[in-house]
Amino acid sequence: MSYEQLDVSKALSHFSHPVAIISVRNGDEVNGMTAAWVAQTSIDPPIGYVSISPLRHTWDMMQKTEHFGVSVLGEGQERIAEIFGTKSGRDTNKFNTLGIDPYLGQEDVPLIPESVAAFVCRKMHTAEIGDHFAVFGEVIEAWKGPENKPLKWFRSKFDI
Ligand SMILES: Cc1cc2nc3c(=O)[nH]c(=O)nc-3n(C[C@H](O)[C@H](O)[C@H](O)COP(=O)(O)O)c2cc1C
Repeated sequence: MSYEQLDVSKALSHFSHPVAIISVRNGDEVNGMTAAWVAQTSIDPPIGYVSISPLRHTWDMMQKTEHFGVSVLGEGQERIAEIFGTKSGRDTNKFNTLGIDPYLGQEDVPLIPESVAAFVCRKMHTAEIGDHFAVFGEVIEAWKGPENKPLKWFRSKFDI
């Protein structure tokens, strides 16, 4: 037996997650945040979800829109993940900070150029689960970016 017992609060960091930017638009304001808790929940129709803390500005903006973007980051896009995952749209325009001119998907949802793939989702259900909200969205538009390996988040760090 080669296990050692884990602190349960840290146990789930052993799931390997994708790293995505969840993006939203409210009128002229665009914002996005890094999210690792993102997954598919249905094939037909194609539905995914993202888990968002109510402390995030993205969460506030999500209340005022019917659509959101999911851009799956690739290896080499760590800085994008870092800035979108540490700064808040409350006081920083992260797209400007990084010099990113967003690609506009349906409904003018801002997407991250050169990501492995990017989707526009129509918000469906929201459920309060513990200290986060799971936001479910139907994928209504999808783009494939350059061939690149996806960036992964494992044991609280990038796994490359
Ligand atoms: C690798 C990484 C993964 C993250 N995953 C999530 C997540 O799944 N859900 C979440 O609410 N916050 C997550 N965060 C934290 C948010 O991205 C961070 O708090 C961000 O600054 C929020 O920005 P906002 O205030 O503009 O919405 C993650 C951060 C990093 C660096």
